[in-house]
Amino acid sequence: MKSALYVITGTFSVPAAALFVYNPQQRSLELLVDKGYKKSALQEIKLSVLPRHMDHFSANEPHPVHEMTKSSFYERNESSFSKLNAKLFIPLFAKDEFVGAISLGKKLGGATFRQSEKDVLRVVAHQMAITLYNSMLFLELTKKAAENKKLYESMRRIYHDTIQAFSAAIDAKDGYTKNHSYRVACYAVAIARELGWKKKEIEGIYIAGLLHDIGKIIIDTRVIKKGEGLTTPEINEIRRHPRISYDILSKINFPWRNIEQFVLHHHERMDGKGYPDALRSTELSDGIKILALVDAFDAMTTDRPYRDKLGLDEAFREVIKCGGTQFDEQITKTFLNLLHKEMNGDVKELQILPHLQQIDVNLFRDKEPGQKT
Ligand SMILES: [Fe+2]
Repeated sequence: MKSALYVITGTFSVPAAALFVYNPQQRSLELLVDKGYKKSALQEIKLSVLPRHMDHFSANEPHPVHEMTKSSFYERNESSFSKLNAKLFIPLFAKDEFVGAISLGKKLGGATFRQSEKDVLRVVAHQMAITLYNSMLFLELTKKAAENKKLYESMRRIYHDTIQAFSAAIDAKDGYTKNHSYRVACYAVAIARELGWKKKEIEGIYIAGLLHDIGKIIIDTRVIKKGEGLTTPEINEIRRHPRISYDILSKINFPWRNIEQFVLHHHERMDGKGYPDALRSTELSDGIKILALVDAFDAMTTDRPYRDKLGLDEAFREVIKCGGTQFDEQITKTFLNLLHKEMNGDVKELQILPHLQQIDVNLFRDKEPGQKT
């Protein structure tokens, strides 16, 4: 706009000119750029434009100011016109919308504007109006996009908070499994990151971790808390929970893929001896293999009513021993390597260790995972 105004002043020998942009909320023309005026001359200059005034404007047509002096628009803005020493006023319109105006001062030598000059000015003004209109449209769209982003972020937060609340409700059913779902989610994320998963997939496995046991909400609390010495009907009752989790979650249209599949099969084993479908390793996705491992790992490393937690050393050996039968070997290796790196301080951010309580890390420093202390 500045360049365009400079070209106009140079081409038509007008030392002073100003370009205004229309603010529909304020119903005023606000100064965007000017040339040839003293810095203080146009301070806070604004021209008031009411809708009825626009009816008298011809789109992008140069209006000699001396012909406008009887109009209410001129009378309303007389002092501004005099500050501008305006000789030509060009209202800018694009797509029938009033977007701004150009004011041109006196020509050098005091000559009047010829018709041919006004014709050129009309064409230039039209181009400037379109540019102004487009940039205003762009600003408006940018603002809307920012608002939408904010709205999306707030919805996403609500979504996450709701899922967290469900997760806490699941774990609250059994005091011993407090925060189990949260830890499973965190461990799963750590492995997924290590495997180079995409951001959205990582978010998906986090949500699956939080909700993997949601089906336990329906299972009898006494059976869940019993832990050991379960009768066959009680084992069968507990084993219903992945299917119930699946039934609950498959009704939700998640923005992440495969959540319900991960949850349905988190008790499957690589050797096909898991439940509910006794699937084999080749039929299981990495997401399922991750959840299966970290779910069992958290059970090993936390106290249960029927046994104390395993030491990390023991848990390591147990996980390695079950690699290939209960757990996927590659995923197991990834997990243990990551844990080993955390213990040796070879990572920027600890993702697993903070969740493991009362562990003497020094015992394991510089040892291979599973190596006896
Ligand atoms: Fe489970």
